[in-house]
Amino acid sequence: MTQWKIREVRPDDLEAAARVERLCFPAAEAAGKEALRARIQAFPGSFFVAEADGAVVGMINGAVTDEPAIRDEMFADVSLHRPDGAYQSIFGLDVLPEYQHRGIASALMRHMIRDAKEKGRKGLILTCKERLIGFYESFGYRNLGRSRSEHGGAVWYDMLLELPAEVIPGEES
Ligand SMILES: CC(C)(COP(=O)(O)OP(=O)(O)OC[C@H]1O[C@@H](n2cnc3c(N)ncnc32)[C@H](O)[C@@H]1OP(=O)(O)O)[C@@H](O)C(=O)NCCC(=O)NCCS
Repeated sequence: MTQWKIREVRPDDLEAAARVERLCFPAAEAAGKEALRARIQAFPGSFFVAEADGAVVGMINGAVTDEPAIRDEMFADVSLHRPDGAYQSIFGLDVLPEYQHRGIASALMRHMIRDAKEKGRKGLILTCKERLIGFYESFGYRNLGRSRSEHGGAVWYDMLLELPAEVIPGEES
């Protein structure tokens, strides 16, 4: 079985992160290299990568905000990041197709939730497509309904996980 580890992003992960994003999202939704460079500079503390076989195979990242839902402007404008803000957002969670179905995305999400909890955030927010609502509900997120987001021309749902959660699902023992 492949072993992986999760760690904070480093500036030299940029090329690999851009590749993961390109291979996982449709072009209209993928963050480009410059957007990812800006995110790595602005909020490395909430940008984590999964490394396996000596390479970056997945990642999770997002700015921190005092707003309880993601606005499309946030994806492109890292100046909206508030390090001491209340809500950890998730801009992207992606794992290379050949490494999917092994629990890597779930481990990345649990890592982000634990980190947000340690930093005393009120909660985590994300937008997702309808087919992934159940996936995020399994971590304790609640579906708040259709989002105003028009990111990439798709239909999105606002999801909110309020902290402190009693336990992180999957880590009860
Ligand atoms: C979504 C994504 C991150 C999942 O990555 P992954 O590493 O395969 O996820 P995990 O192995 O941790 O978890 C998958 C498990 O979650 C559960 N799951 C998945 N979708 C689910 C749903 N809609 N409802 C309930 N549970 C779900 C299943 O148990 C699934 O197991 P399976 O893969 O054996 O069927 C990956 O498919 C991906 O990168 N997709 C493209 C980018 C994307 O859409 N990202 C999310 C939007 S930000």
